[in-house]
Amino acid sequence: MNMRKEIDYRAIVNPVYLTAKTAVCLMANAGISGAEEIVRKLNVNSVDLGMTDAEMMLGNELVVEAKFRTMCRLIEETGIQTNVDLPCGYTPKVLHMTEKGLRFVGMDLPIVAQEIAPILLSLASHPERIQIHGVDATNLESLTAELNSVDGPICISTEGMMMYFTESEASAVVSNIRHLLEQHGGCWITPDPEFMLQFFLTFQSVLGEKAIRKLEESRKAATGQSDVINLTNSFIVRPADIEGSMERSLAFLRQHNLKAERINLAENMPELSTYRKLTPEQVAAFKSAMGKCFYWKITLDVDRKQKESKQETQPFGMDYTLKDKVFSVSLRGRVDTITAPELLRAWETEKSDHEITAIEVDCSGLPYISSAGLRVLLMMYKSLEDKSRFKMTGVREEVREILETTGFDQLLL
Ligand SMILES: C[S@@+](CC[C@H](N)C(=O)[O-])C[C@H]1O[C@@H](n2cnc3c(N)ncnc32)[C@H](O)[C@@H]1O
Repeated sequence: MNMRKEIDYRAIVNPVYLTAKTAVCLMANAGISGAEEIVRKLNVNSVDLGMTDAEMMLGNELVVEAKFRTMCRLIEETGIQTNVDLPCGYTPKVLHMTEKGLRFVGMDLPIVAQEIAPILLSLASHPERIQIHGVDATNLESLTAELNSVDGPICISTEGMMMYFTESEASAVVSNIRHLLEQHGGCWITPDPEFMLQFFLTFQSVLGEKAIRKLEESRKAATGQSDVINLTNSFIVRPADIEGSMERSLAFLRQHNLKAERINLAENMPELSTYRKLTPEQVAAFKSAMGKCFYWKITLDVDRKQKESKQETQPFGMDYTLKDKVFSVSLRGRVDTITAPELLRAWETEKSDHEITAIEVDCSGLPYISSAGLRVLLMMYKSLEDKSRFKMTGVREEVREILETTGFDQLLL
């Protein structure tokens, strides 16, 4: 197998992992211990990742540092001995947690897990307390398999992931997390539902009237890196309709048999190193603004009856042929970030050796497709001169719904 090519395919199907490189660069700038060593070993810098504007970086550093330090404190205060960080990205949280005596299970897309695991293990003073696994949060099997050996309750932490999901992906992930909490007990802590408010209030408190422009530049950087346009779904509270979207998000959790307690950021936020870059007035304005921000501690709603469908677990597989310039592929099982690179590799290999003028995708064995899979289908579709020669057959109701809510039905069906 050509390893260089393999890594490229995984990066192409889901480029969102790049956002995690930006995050660790911001952490290094913010003086979070361990971050600078990680950045050096990754050989990245914020300029390469598109962060050049000093004010935009300052706003982002404040958000990232407040999140990092407050999340570490909240996780520790639960008293739970195992922190499952999903997604772990490239952050030094593992170093902080294991120093405090916790066990740390870091989970992220395989491309990230593979790159960060040796770096973290080399920096940790307690590598025996660390596990890092490649998963796809939408794929229940990938999560449960990695947690089989973990005893006792778990504290799942999720920073900076939920906003990148489509509606069906967010629903799959919340359902999976509920499943993990049912299996292990514990809680899920996340700043993600109200992330937009934290960004907005942080930027406004230190940048005043420039805030909106700098936020827009930041949003563009995040969407550009992730190839995700909206940064919202039913889990995310929107500043334009706080009340309505908050109710919708809590209802979304209730549907999954979960409930949330909102935890005030200002009341739980430790002192930040980034204050050294601010005037006393900016620090005061920032702290006061964080009084309006909340992180969510989510637990099982034991009073409610569970009504959940199980995720279909047929393993991924595909058969393909190329005949008379027609590429025919039949898909089985889930096409997600873990499995989509296989489809992309098959397609790219055939395409580089032969002329292809039509594509037929048999979806009768396909119960689920994530945006990584849709991205591959879109690449295949776009490669055809005559777009009407792209055909999907046997599309099941669940997949049709995903295509419709993402707008892909307009092109692919
Ligand atoms: C903004 S980064 C946040 C990383 C880290 N929590 C932090 O605070 O820096 C988003 C992360 O989500 C991960 N991610 C995106 N989709 C995922 C999925 N389906 N399963 C697991 N991780 C995913 C990306 O690989 C990336 O590491």
